[in-house]
Amino acid sequence: MPLTQRHTLTQFLIEERRRFPDASGDFNALILDVALACKAIARAVALGELGGVLGNHADAQGDSHTNVQGETQKKLDVLSNELFLRANEWAGHLAGMASEEMALPRQIPAAHPRGKYLLVFDPLDGSSNTDVNLSVGSIFSVLRAPQDAVDSGRDVGEQDFLQPGTRQVAAGYALYGPSTMLVLCVGNGVHGFTLDPQLGEFLLTHPRLSIPADTQEFAINASNSRFWEAPIRRYVDECLAGRTGPRGKDFNMRWIASMVAEAHRILMRGGVFMYPRDSKDPARAGRLRLLYEANPIGLLIEQAGGRASTGRGPVLDTEPDALHQRIGLVFGSRHEVERIERYHHEPAQAQDDNPLFRERGLFRV
Ligand code: AHG
Ligand code: MN
Ligand code: MN
Repeated sequence: MPLTQRHTLTQFLIEERRRFPDASGDFNALILDVALACKAIARAVALGELGGVLGNHADAQGDSHTNVQGETQKKLDVLSNELFLRANEWAGHLAGMASEEMALPRQIPAAHPRGKYLLVFDPLDGSSNTDVNLSVGSIFSVLRAPQDAVDSGRDVGEQDFLQPGTRQVAAGYALYGPSTMLVLCVGNGVHGFTLDPQLGEFLLTHPRLSIPADTQEFAINASNSRFWEAPIRRYVDECLAGRTGPRGKDFNMRWIASMVAEAHRILMRGGVFMYPRDSKDPARAGRLRLLYEANPIGLLIEQAGGRASTGRGPVLDTEPDALHQRIGLVFGSRHEVERIERYHHEPAQAQDDNPLFRERGLFRV
């Protein structure tokens, strides 16, 4: 298709806005600022070693840094966070921001006006992959700020961000892979845009993404299998048993260790992703973070006809209790996620009685 016949992201947003005649344009401008941050991150990621951006972030003494999650920060984690902050702090659309890389919410500097939205983001997801030149991405979620914060222009606090995923106004991710893509939901389906680096524009290439309800592909970090709960072990064992097992078909497996890349694969061709609650660290309900990983990806998956779950029920219904709260996450092709939920709700006895689960599980400990 000739370039001129494709919608730019700007054109797409303007046409979407016509559904809301009273809209001020703030929201569209916010999404375009987020897209600018993603373009800047895409460039930094693409330069790799040439840009001097690989490796761990070190302080003045040369010591590695850990973020509030206790994880070592990469240089690109810190740079991507800065790019998100700089691109979004000035325009007057936001009441505040929160990120994986910051312990506390970030206030809009006094020099700039404050607005009605909250932006929550994982500036670089899968950042363990930066040093090995594999796909990483950025994930973002847009919430409304509480009305009293908008009216008063007061500082925002952690409490203001603790909204269930169903209240998201928009969500999306940028994937920095062989091509850079922005995948976006502004409340009306999920649409994919590909960056033309020469034009510096995101062009609509994947309108109305839809996830097939059935799949033969799953993704899980199997090195955690000894910590899994019984329903997840049962599900994976049954997939591994293949054509002669209870599922009656062979399954394929993938693990990229970059959730945004796994989510993209699932949006493109179906599949199921699991980072379930496990017993590895009893202090943590899961590996992934609710507000800036599970909720935005969950909204995209559900809007594309898939299902996003804690394993037990819809992830988007979860009432958050902390900014950096972790949660078990299972998402993808609807029938598979429903099956996993069903396994969680079946009495434990039924699972113990399953001969496959008892004797032949390849991941059984
Ligand atoms: P982040 O780089 O933002 O900390 O997130 C990494 C996440 C997610 O992208 C991925 O699915 C998961 O961590 C990988 O975890 P394991 O290393 O345990 O496989
Ligand atoms: Mn992440
Ligand atoms: Mn991250």
